[in-house]
Amino acid sequence: MNTPKPTALSARRLLLQFEGILNRIFGENLNPFYYLGALGFLFFWVLVGSGAYLYIFYKTGIEISYPSVEDITHEQWYLGGIMRSLHRYASDALVVVMMLHLLREYILGRYRGARWFAWITGIPLIWLIYAAGINGYMMPWDKLAQYVTVATMEWFDWLPIFSGPLSQSFVSQEVLNDRFFTLLSFFHTTSPVFILFLLWVHILHISYPVVNPRRGLVTGMLLALLALALIYPALSQGPADLGIEPRNVGIDWFFLFIYPLMDTWSPGGVWALVVGFSLLLGVLPWLPTRQKQIPVAEVHLKDCSGCRLCVADCPYEAVVMRPRSDGLRFLEEAVVVADRCVSCGICVGACPSSTAFRNEEKYESGIEMPSMPIAGLRTEMANDLARLKGDARVIVFGCDNAADIKEIRSEGVAVLSLPCTAMLPPSFIEYALREHQADGVFITGCRENDCYHRMGGLWTTQRLAREREPRLRWRADSNSARLRVFWASAADSKELAAELESFRARLRSLSNG
Ligand code: HEM
Ligand code: SF4
Ligand code: SF4
Repeated sequence: MNTPKPTALSARRLLLQFEGILNRIFGENLNPFYYLGALGFLFFWVLVGSGAYLYIFYKTGIEISYPSVEDITHEQWYLGGIMRSLHRYASDALVVVMMLHLLREYILGRYRGARWFAWITGIPLIWLIYAAGINGYMMPWDKLAQYVTVATMEWFDWLPIFSGPLSQSFVSQEVLNDRFFTLLSFFHTTSPVFILFLLWVHILHISYPVVNPRRGLVTGMLLALLALALIYPALSQGPADLGIEPRNVGIDWFFLFIYPLMDTWSPGGVWALVVGFSLLLGVLPWLPTRQKQIPVAEVHLKDCSGCRLCVADCPYEAVVMRPRSDGLRFLEEAVVVADRCVSCGICVGACPSSTAFRNEEKYESGIEMPSMPIAGLRTEMANDLARLKGDARVIVFGCDNAADIKEIRSEGVAVLSLPCTAMLPPSFIEYALREHQADGVFITGCRENDCYHRMGGLWTTQRLAREREPRLRWRADSNSARLRVFWASAADSKELAAELESFRARLRSLSNG
């Protein structure tokens, strides 16, 4: 699947520009926007750790819940109080990064095709995380808890599924019984298990999922949570009293933003909003789009030796190995699981049979993108190289999801744009430099740590550094001046053009000197 090119003011361009600013502040390795999912995991673990501590001292009961939380907060503020604040701020941070993660995947268009699975499994996560958080606000049994509990029960009463009104149980302290607190506590302590299970399903078809942010980011986030806990400790808002309707309670807008709506709208209206939003998210992957759908990868058994390189490099676990079915002497063969394939072409770049040094004009690789056969790409490259003129002839290999390299094609510059830079077999670089068809090779693609297809940038870097198969065999050490790598997003076209010019100037100085 190809992303549309960002128009001057598209959301994607704004996102890329904003992330460019974050890159300048934090660097590509610590840009929080590149680690939103991983930060979600970090905050989840902080919640589990701080929650386990609080649970040791929390008491379940109408008369004892509030005092027990007060004890935790004030009697042992140096640990219990900080844990309570960490618990609250980590939960806020979790919903913030979750919603930013959702928005980012949406803006980048990474929710269609085979990505529907991660998208759809994200929806119950939103529900569960919100349910657990709202439930958490009921547990201290202060005025906020009373407000949230009664409003929630009235909201549920609107559904025609309960035999009697739930809110009747909250008309007075006498009617309410301790079993309610046991239930709250049970749901709150078991929900992390369900969340963890859903997270596991969420990343089930993602190879090498990034579930841990870089150490610097972890340290920074933990310090920020600690600073918040010390400056604005989480406090209760006075004991609940069902005889008095709570007024002017402060609410946590990250979790409880629908509650003020409940005061002004009908419960049905709020249900329509919540269910409507979920349904909209649920159908998004299948709504019509102008995005071009590229056919998925296909295996050509006669050129597959069962080497597993495509399995190792596929970012979406879309290639599996099966026992050989065609009688050739190899043990295994590659098989593409079509509904997991995002058509990135990375497997083609990984396959040894994709080498540009094949004698046949119409050769096939072990694994191919049917709409971009490897032999056709070699011909396209050779034809573009053949027309180059001047003393700094360069071929640029790039990615359809990053800076548009077709704009920089010129008399001295040939281009080959691929669905992902890692679709490029390293042998194409050697081929371009062979017999002086080009003076230099320039490689570009999505910004560092932000590959649209997740692993393409890393695999390319490792193949060029000869740390990953298939390795670049050409000895870059003696010729490195003839190879340049520059990562540039669709918002970095100017920087890309400038870097290419500096590379060509360097090539000219090499040939003159
Ligand atoms: C706290 C909740 C969530 C956590 C911790 C989380 C975490 C993650 C992680 C770790 C990845 C893999 C990232 C990578 O290695 O590239 C991922 C991918 C993804 N997530 Fe989430 N996620 C959450 C909620 C959601 C939600 C609510 C949605 C949308 C409804 C969503 C949509 C996606 C999509 C579409 C991908 C796949 C991206 C791709 O194909 O490159 N996630 N998530
Ligand atoms: S690496 Fe190949 S099989 Fe895997 S998602 Fe990309 S195109 Fe599909
Ligand atoms: S990389 Fe090529 S040869 Fe190796 S298993 Fe995959 S398709 Fe077969």
